[in-house]
Amino acid sequence: MIVLKNVTKIFPPNVVALDNISFEIKSGEFVLIIGRSGAGKSTVLRLINKEIDPTKGEIFYKNFKITKISSKKKRELRRKIITIFQDFKLLNKKTVFENLSLPLEILGKSKKEIEKEVLNIAQKLKIENKLNQRAETLSGGEKQKVCLARGLLYNPEVILADEPTGNLDPLSTHEILEILKSLNKEGITIIFATHNKEIVNSLKTRVITLDNGRLVRDENPGSYSIF
Ligand SMILES: Nc1ncnc2c1ncn2[C@@H]1O[C@H](COP(=O)(O)OP(=O)(O)O)[C@@H](O)[C@H]1O
Ligand SMILES: [Mg+2]
Repeated sequence: MIVLKNVTKIFPPNVVALDNISFEIKSGEFVLIIGRSGAGKSTVLRLINKEIDPTKGEIFYKNFKITKISSKKKRELRRKIITIFQDFKLLNKKTVFENLSLPLEILGKSKKEIEKEVLNIAQKLKIENKLNQRAETLSGGEKQKVCLARGLLYNPEVILADEPTGNLDPLSTHEILEILKSLNKEGITIIFATHNKEIVNSLKTRVITLDNGRLVRDENPGSYSIF
């Protein structure tokens, strides 16, 4: 489903963030990308969602080369491949309902459809009692659920998660992981970047290990091997 073929990313003037990386992720997989801070995890995710382009190499999504695509195709891709981040990126002064309405307004849905879909997704993630609260007043775990809900409104095929539990307490971390696991069971492909040892060892899934921009291990199931 997602193929990186000999991908190198060099940031100016000469930071080699990724050095000749190749891997394939199949539809329905749950894959962890691990490595120390600066190893290149975020760069991998940013290449897949087309936030940045590779310096060398090719990236394919469903056999379609996405290395050079129009901005229209890029927007379409960002609905199929959503991203959640450690620092949430919500509209803090807006309510949860407003945060969740926005993607649906962009999709041109009616007010009635928006209300129905927002309520549905909020119920699914158990945040329906938070809809009228401003985003900045939520706990970290609640904020991440809102981010997930916002992305899920696009019916994505892939979730890219860039250290999504990095700011969360253990209980919220567990909760977010359980939600991602259940979304994966529903068929959504998950690519999850982390350097959290407990997460890696508890998930018992495929692990791609990066070290200084190089892919040093790709095992299924993998384990935490950063020393
Ligand atoms: N926009 C950028 N400009 C210059 N260097 C960058 C940029 N983004 C990332 N890097 C560098 O690329 C390397 C990999 O970064 P990143 O993918 O963010 O690592 P990780 O997510 O594993 O912590 C680091 O050395 C980082 O400083
Ligand atoms: Mg990162």
